[in-house]
Amino acid sequence: MTFKKTIKKFTIIISIFVFTIELLEARTVYLSPCAMAIDKEGKTLYVAEASAKKVAVLDLASGKVTKNISVSDEPSGIAIAPDGSMLYVTIAAPEGVVDVVKLPKGKVIDSIDTGHTAVAPVLSPDGKMLYICNRYNNNVGIIDLASRKQIATVPVIREPFAMTMTQDGKFLLVANLLPAGATDGEYAAASVSIIDTAAKKVCVEIKLPNGSTSLRGICISPDGKYAYVTHTLSRYQLPTTQLERGWMNTSALSIIDVTEKKLLNSVLLDDVDLGAANPWGVAFTADGKTICVAHAGTHEISVINKDELHAKLEKVARGEKVSDASTTAADVPNDLSFLVGLRKRLKLAGNGPRGIVIAGTKVYAAEYFTDTIGMIDITSEARPEPQSIALGPKQELSVVRKGETYFHDADFCFQRWQSCSTCHPDARVDALNWDLLNDGIGNPKQTKTMLLSHKTGPAMISGIRESAEIAVRKGMQFIQFVVRPEEDAVAIDEYLKTLKPIESPYLVKGRLSPAAKRGEKLYKEAKCATCHPSSSFYTDMNRYNVGTGIGSEKDKEFDTPSLVEIWSSAPYLYDGRSVTMEEVLTKHNAGDKHGKTSDLKPEQIKDLAEYVLSL
Ligand code: HEC
Ligand code: HEC
Repeated sequence: MTFKKTIKKFTIIISIFVFTIELLEARTVYLSPCAMAIDKEGKTLYVAEASAKKVAVLDLASGKVTKNISVSDEPSGIAIAPDGSMLYVTIAAPEGVVDVVKLPKGKVIDSIDTGHTAVAPVLSPDGKMLYICNRYNNNVGIIDLASRKQIATVPVIREPFAMTMTQDGKFLLVANLLPAGATDGEYAAASVSIIDTAAKKVCVEIKLPNGSTSLRGICISPDGKYAYVTHTLSRYQLPTTQLERGWMNTSALSIIDVTEKKLLNSVLLDDVDLGAANPWGVAFTADGKTICVAHAGTHEISVINKDELHAKLEKVARGEKVSDASTTAADVPNDLSFLVGLRKRLKLAGNGPRGIVIAGTKVYAAEYFTDTIGMIDITSEARPEPQSIALGPKQELSVVRKGETYFHDADFCFQRWQSCSTCHPDARVDALNWDLLNDGIGNPKQTKTMLLSHKTGPAMISGIRESAEIAVRKGMQFIQFVVRPEEDAVAIDEYLKTLKPIESPYLVKGRLSPAAKRGEKLYKEAKCATCHPSSSFYTDMNRYNVGTGIGSEKDKEFDTPSLVEIWSSAPYLYDGRSVTMEEVLTKHNAGDKHGKTSDLKPEQIKDLAEYVLSL
């Protein structure tokens, strides 16, 4: 055989090999549509596909994907320039960017540097400025599109996730995903920050009702008078003995009076005997008459008559009784029948609707777990037939993907009140305390993250469950009140085992900052590593009394928590009394029972905190 022939043969073998690998890869890539934007004519839908790292261009007339645009990393949101010439795509990565995509070609022509996990792009009315949420930096980035630079950031409360702007461009309304305060008190809830765009500052912080968490969507009425925020309204102060009538978690729409800059009221999206879990995207029809909400946990769209909703709210505000449960405005957030007669619940054909857009009378929903776009015409008959437009070939679900789907699915819960992700959003924390019954009643505990749970048993802060596997099965049985086959639990285990830590926003280009480096030394000196060793996810998996127990938990031993990604799960200690890391090391460490910190100077405490928050 000649040399040339050998090379040729070799090349063929390599090509076959590469092709096979590509095929295998292609088989396991899901698309995960999460957010969308629609052009002015309502003809083309641009779909951010998180897992595929692509933006699909969907021609609505033919129902066909005409183009797939590869973007820098996972896309999380899309905005279209007012003249339709560009797309701005936020990218969820530790070093986040906004990809600038030129239309109609669909070519990425630039990437603008932003913060950690950019999401929710909003353009100013003149199309000159772009605002984005830097989710894990807890700020809103302001991008000047002429220079394509992030020119300023405005600090907000915690994990800004959704955003909208008043028509005059003067104010931005930012939905903070999670509560930020201590959780051992009487009030814990997330809020909406209103930013004055000229002053580049938050001018008002609107506190939502007690237990508000997981703020996922926000929109403004076309007349600019009201903003609407979707969220979970948790009844975290009650022991988790049952689910009936929204005993644990309800789903809400909070209405903000934009001119007055205050909360008008919060209405529940559930029905008396049927939850509408995990409300996500919210949007208005162009005529301003109808509000639509996607329910990611129950795979539905709520279609709400806006005028009737406001008429009823005004009536009850005047002191008129509007239903058995609502005689005053203060009753409304607890009234599961408030929307009866003014809302339709429409089932979608796909699974896990997140972002929604409306074109005319058609509502489109990004169905995350089925790689489809759901469509419902809200004017047609009482129960319109939902359609699902496939964004790609139907994929076989792996066990891991099944587990992810189940974790987010409230169909598996008694009366669909909640999914696992209702308390563990993004498989992490809702930043609330819950009085689960596994360790007795009357001793609420902070929700724990699912990250590394399967590698750092026992589970629960008390260590009462031998392993995460047991905690998963007990969660199904005693929190969702259902009996499910063992293979469903196995799938959830497999999904949770694949979770990867999110890079800490305290790192500088992926490395410890100088302060964190100084803190690393102190970490050893203060003996933190004896119980939180770096060799095993910063936990030795043993129980200790570190002097933190109070009340019924006095002198109790707790299971040493892992400190990996601890920056994301504030507040701290079993009851969430410590808002900051510094407080864990000072105020709540009497007698040096929890590491030797009393001899550290304030700057050293800061350095140590910075190190721990960098893990
Ligand atoms: C009502 C809120 C709520 C819901 C819903 C919920 N959990 Fe939890 N979960 C918690 C709280 C609170 C803790 C921590 C309790 C403690 O430490 O004592 C926890 C802890 C856990 C743990 C242990 C973590 C560790 O490493 O210690 C696992 C695993 C878990 N949950 C899985 C699930 C699964 C699976 C579901 C769905 C079937 C679910 N949870 C639904 C509130 C909830
Ligand atoms: C004797 C073992 C031990 C030592 C030493 C120790 N820890 Fe802990 N740590 C624990 C236990 C047990 C808890 C749970 C306490 C609670 O929740 O009230 C905990 C909780 C924490 C938490 C809160 C975690 C959460 O999810 O809320 C942080 C942060 C922390 N430790 C950091 C440190 C640092 C920093 C040091 C060194 C100054 C240290 N620990 C020393 C055992 C220890």
